[in-house]
Amino acid sequence: MEYLKFCFVFSCWLKFANSVSSTETPQAPAPIPKEKLLVLTVATEETDGFHRFMKSASYFNYTVKVLGMGEAWKGGDVGRSIGGGQKVRLLKEAMEALADQEDLVVLSVDSYDLIFAGGPEEILRKFQQANHKVLFAAEGLIWPDKRLADKYPSIRSGKRYLNSGGIIGYAPYINRVVSQWNLHDNDDDQLFYTKIYLDPLQRETLNMTLDHKCQIFQNLNGAVDEVLLKFGTGRVRVRNTVYDSLPVVVHGNGNTKMYLNYLANYVPNAWTYENGCSLCDDDIVDLSQLKEYPNVLVGVFIEQPTPFLPEFFQRLLTLDYPKDKLNLFIHNNEVYHEKHIQKFWEENRNVFGSFKVVGPEENLSQGEARNMGMDLCRKDATCGYYFSMDSDVMLTNRQTLKLLIEQNRKIIGPLVTRHSKLWSNFWGALSLDGYYARSEDYVDIVQRKRVGVWNIPYMAHVYLVKGSVLRNELKERNYFVLEKLDPDMAFCRNSREMTSHREKDSPSPESFHMLRPPKGVFMYITNRHDFGRLISTANYNISHYNNDLWQIFENPVDWKEKYIHPNYTRIFTENHMEEPCPDVFWFPVFSEKACDEIVGEMEHYGSWSGGRHEDKRISGGYETVPTDDIHMKQIGFDKEWLHFIREFISPVTLKVFSGYYTKGYAVMNFVVKYTPERQAYLRPHHDSSTFTINIALNNKDRDFEGGGCRFHRYNCSISSPRKGWSFMHPGRLTHLHEGLPTTNGTRYIAVSFIDP
Ligand SMILES: *[C@@H]1O[C@H](CO)[C@@H](O)[C@H](O)[C@H]1NC(C)=O
Ligand SMILES: *[C@@H]1O[C@H](CO)[C@@H](O)[C@H](O)[C@H]1NC(C)=O
Ligand SMILES: *[C@@H]1O[C@H](CO)[C@@H](O)[C@H](O)[C@H]1NC(C)=O
Ligand SMILES: *[C@@H]1O[C@H](CO)[C@@H](O)[C@H](O)[C@H]1NC(C)=O
Ligand SMILES: *[C@@H]1O[C@H](CO)[C@@H](O)[C@H](O)[C@H]1NC(C)=O
Ligand SMILES: *[C@@H]1O[C@H](CO)[C@@H](O)[C@H](O)[C@H]1NC(C)=O
Ligand SMILES: *[C@@H]1O[C@H](CO)[C@@H](O)[C@H](O)[C@H]1NC(C)=O
Repeated sequence: MEYLKFCFVFSCWLKFANSVSSTETPQAPAPIPKEKLLVLTVATEETDGFHRFMKSASYFNYTVKVLGMGEAWKGGDVGRSIGGGQKVRLLKEAMEALADQEDLVVLSVDSYDLIFAGGPEEILRKFQQANHKVLFAAEGLIWPDKRLADKYPSIRSGKRYLNSGGIIGYAPYINRVVSQWNLHDNDDDQLFYTKIYLDPLQRETLNMTLDHKCQIFQNLNGAVDEVLLKFGTGRVRVRNTVYDSLPVVVHGNGNTKMYLNYLANYVPNAWTYENGCSLCDDDIVDLSQLKEYPNVLVGVFIEQPTPFLPEFFQRLLTLDYPKDKLNLFIHNNEVYHEKHIQKFWEENRNVFGSFKVVGPEENLSQGEARNMGMDLCRKDATCGYYFSMDSDVMLTNRQTLKLLIEQNRKIIGPLVTRHSKLWSNFWGALSLDGYYARSEDYVDIVQRKRVGVWNIPYMAHVYLVKGSVLRNELKERNYFVLEKLDPDMAFCRNSREMTSHREKDSPSPESFHMLRPPKGVFMYITNRHDFGRLISTANYNISHYNNDLWQIFENPVDWKEKYIHPNYTRIFTENHMEEPCPDVFWFPVFSEKACDEIVGEMEHYGSWSGGRHEDKRISGGYETVPTDDIHMKQIGFDKEWLHFIREFISPVTLKVFSGYYTKGYAVMNFVVKYTPERQAYLRPHHDSSTFTINIALNNKDRDFEGGGCRFHRYNCSISSPRKGWSFMHPGRLTHLHEGLPTTNGTRYIAVSFIDP
């Protein structure tokens, strides 16, 4: 709204000014026609930044001439050369042919780290208002020679120093500036322009000034705090809040590249409130049009004990992609997981194009393992994509791989988040020292309130890289090892800034003024679809037998998916339950896996009570109706079990005993084992509970014969329910009941006396 208001006032003022000038100063210049503006830029390679620049230019219909494309770097260090004299030399050559076009206005700008936020008419209008023949961009920091500060004309306000990233002027005048160039390609362009500007005679005869208040040029270096995104209708601008200006050219000079990336996720029209993402479908690849799906190397990294690893593998198996086109590389750093990988390998080794496992015995560091995986794709010319996945990524969207390929970016990851947390696999911003910072749009992206494909500085856990990029821009090995950075940090930094280490060695502390090298590969995260989630590997205790059972707190969604019966929710939506005796209800609650793992856990523990009356585990030490059992507490599962009751049993209670709100509290929680050899039945008794649940943990007629329960008051017997089903009945008084004999095999049930 502020932007609109500002425009409104501004255009009124313009009208007023125009009307005054048309009557009182008839010699006031007519607007320069937009055809008279020519943009010159230097780029030797078509980087992501270059394409972004060209996109913003074509959006506004600028006429752009690119100088130097395909030309080799001059002057050694790739980090410097394009920022240097080569740029002036190319401009000088180009200007020779334009020198006599007196009414031509030339705008010379960088391209890799620059975007347009407004159109040619606006730039020309502002140029005319500046009333000079040549206008340079300005910035608040002086570079490269601080000693020249005193030579600058003093100004009352605004940015004082020249920046060579943007120049606008009449062709003959620009020509007179650049034709003075006779230095080397690796000499400094900014120093060259600065010296000309600081010469009072030249300043006057060439009629030069600086854009002190960012009317046209916004350099972001040292000015990140001055600018804001301004959302207009179908258009986004950058507003300088100090000068209240709407700059037309936004330049991510110095170490503000990532901030420019953030701004360019919106400006000029990349994402708006009205239209959402307008560039998302640009350059899309239609996989169905390809004769053959590309080969993908899937790198799986198991770097720490990870809950739900078998489920992770299942999801990998169900990705919608031809399996023979998938080659698998697994790095497993954990002895604990060898059994899971062994099983997966035995069942699926022939399903995939190839299957390679590097185990803990190789003692690879995480960085080395990741280098190895990426290298497998790099060295194989048939490898179309490298898809890196950490074991804590649960891709619930089977289309993920296809969707990422179709998006057609060099590096792109799907957004995955920790359930109901703001934790995700990307960072929206980095602090100046390279660590986490939250971007203004981070929460909206994580919560998918803003949907699109976002250029971001850091991501991890899961991403897709084009094989061709690994063989070109990222062809050097060893991306995952850099200083003391964690491997993903190292990879992101190496992709973004190919010369980070060189910069560090650079003698000048102001080296961040250099133009960014040409290979900066953009990294994107997409949240256009729901892709899946990140699970938590924290607090994963692997000293139990079936460790995932304990994950009910840390990873509740995955716990529910694995352990709760698939028809459980139908209890509430379709009344999917039965009432075999009065007030006795039957309903599905546990999955097969839950039943098997609980039984397995108990048998692994092995200390069954033997069904004696004396029982040290309970207060009083005496049990009138003893069973052969193991208490949940004995295996350290009591907290988890009570949570299960609150989460999954209480809602059923509320449904069947309407008006009864259970506290979900229980002291007696145990697994009972009935077998003819030990204890086969239980004599009639009341439970010391308000209600009791009794969950069948195995199958009648497959695992055992007989069993069941008889309720005396109603003369109603029920056989053992299906595996994973529970029955629930009132405990005291009304429901005197007995456990019917198990005649063969072993029957297991899990029992809780709730609200004693
Ligand atoms: C650019 O030119 C096209 C075709 O002439 C026109 O439709 C479009 O509105 C122009 N864009 C701008 C931002 O002026
Ligand atoms: C600079 O050029 C403008 C017109 O472009 C003119 O009005 C102004 O007087 C010139 N200034 C000097 C110092 O020559
Ligand atoms: C594994 O590598 C680490 C670090 O490189 C080393 O300290 C350790 O001794 C190695 N362990 C084995 C079993 O080789
Ligand atoms: C892991 O579980 C074992 C067995 O229940 C227990 O003794 C141990 O204290 C647990 N470790 C942690 C860190 O909770
Ligand atoms: C869920 O219910 C449907 C329909 O009653 C049934 O066909 C299916 O087998 C049930 N699923 C399980 C795992 O029991
Ligand atoms: C209980 O039911 C059984 C059959 O369901 C019947 O044979 C028996 O007579 C009944 N007992 C009483 C006491 O009603
Ligand atoms: C018990 O089950 C086993 C295996 O199913 C069977 O071989 C055996 O005959 C059964 N015993 C009796 C007494 O039914």
